[in-house]
Amino acid sequence: MSEDILRGSRLEPIASNVLKYTSSIEEDEILFEPVKEINIAHVIALLKAGAIEREKAEKIVSAIKMVNTFEKGEKVEDVHMFLEQKVIGLVGGDGGYINLGKSRNDQVSTALRIALRKKILEIILLLADFMETLLEKAREAKDKVMPAYTHLQVAQPITFAYWLLAYHDMIMRDVERLFENYVRTNMSPMGAAACAGTTVKLDRMGVAKKLAFYSIIENTVDAVSSRDFILEHMFALSSIMLNVSRMCEDINFLSNNDIGIFNVPDKFSSTSSAMPQKKNSIVTEVARAYAGIVIGNFFGIMCIYKALPLSYNLDLQEITPKMWEAYNIVYNTIDVMKDLIKEIGFNEDRGYEILVNNFSNAMELAEKIVIEYKIPFRKAHHIVGAYVRKCLEKDVPLFSREAYQMICEELNKENVTPLSYDEYIRALDPKTSILEKTIAGGPNPDNVIAMIREREDRNRIFKKIAKDELSRIENARLKLNLYEFMVNGGGKK
Ligand code: ARG
Repeated sequence: MSEDILRGSRLEPIASNVLKYTSSIEEDEILFEPVKEINIAHVIALLKAGAIEREKAEKIVSAIKMVNTFEKGEKVEDVHMFLEQKVIGLVGGDGGYINLGKSRNDQVSTALRIALRKKILEIILLLADFMETLLEKAREAKDKVMPAYTHLQVAQPITFAYWLLAYHDMIMRDVERLFENYVRTNMSPMGAAACAGTTVKLDRMGVAKKLAFYSIIENTVDAVSSRDFILEHMFALSSIMLNVSRMCEDINFLSNNDIGIFNVPDKFSSTSSAMPQKKNSIVTEVARAYAGIVIGNFFGIMCIYKALPLSYNLDLQEITPKMWEAYNIVYNTIDVMKDLIKEIGFNEDRGYEILVNNFSNAMELAEKIVIEYKIPFRKAHHIVGAYVRKCLEKDVPLFSREAYQMICEELNKENVTPLSYDEYIRALDPKTSILEKTIAGGPNPDNVIAMIREREDRNRIFKKIAKDELSRIENARLKLNLYEFMVNGGGKK
């Protein structure tokens, strides 16, 4: 056998620039522990299938455990060959049984799933913390009014709590997506070997269980060639970043000097090297850019995947680093945004002032007219529209006798008895109108508190599921690493 355990006598040595160009070794560190676990589970399965003798299996497994450090410098194509080479080095020729009934193709997909499932659970826990922050902040802000915008023009009053809850719910759906993604990731391809399975009577389900997978990917061609669990993950990551980028853009707008409803604390801001007066919200800018990188990686992965013939192709290797890069960006973004949200300032007076200056309650006034005077909504819309136009033309403030006069004139034209001044003020005051929004899911503060409570409960459940699952997979890992062969027979359960 030649020194190169992979090429043997089949191929001449690889050119060094070709090895560098095609190797995944630089990106494989994260797969090192998973690959070791897989190999232990696989050797146990080989023993149970009667394909390898007990002493050999035992020697191979203890050799696997002895390989403690992953060395990128080795002249091997990837982590899979690295481990096999080390095991053969430690055990001698019998180490060569290790790849019986498997291939790098099933192994890499399995290792990726083992690494990713843990990452999914970890990012779910971080997102749960972020959601908790959003909810805590919302609790304090249930009565603090601010505008909701449509077309970036002041639309209607909501509260700061309600703005926070909107983002909370968007992120919550991303967490649900991640849980679904987890279920489909947590399936074992082992036993698929290169693509068409193996003649070795491996207990595929047994291997899957040892590695804490829920089940196996049955079709072996599918098992080695599919990466839709990564596509799904990339969508979830992209969706998180799309949502966060919108939140960032809202923060940039609402903290702009002219708007001044939000205040981004100094520690999340920078100033200008030239303009001493400046405070720029840099976290929310960089996060906006990172969203582009994550989406770009998602696109990149889809472009790699498109029209790939079945089954395994080395193109698939290049998907992996794009995914980890995206994952790390999202993780770091959420980590910083969680702190930013915790500390962001809210200027209640400014929120109220902008609402009042922009007749934010015109629709609510029209609704009152419809209900009280039994006038069709379209007519009421015209009455209030004419009143707003006149107030703006004459530059009269909403809370003034002159403005009240304007609405009375418009109502008189329709032969309806005008509202009292008090009724007028109540209908147009953003703070009181919020109280009227008791419709399911509406921004009424009591409603909002009920919604916060319900979400806090749900969040606790998310956290419990993720934590329990993390300890389940960790226990399986420890059990596998402590696996002992019995002197007689196949080995302990
Ligand atoms: N390093 C590869 C990857 O990350 C796995 C090796 C499969 N290579 C092969 N020639 N069949 O996808």
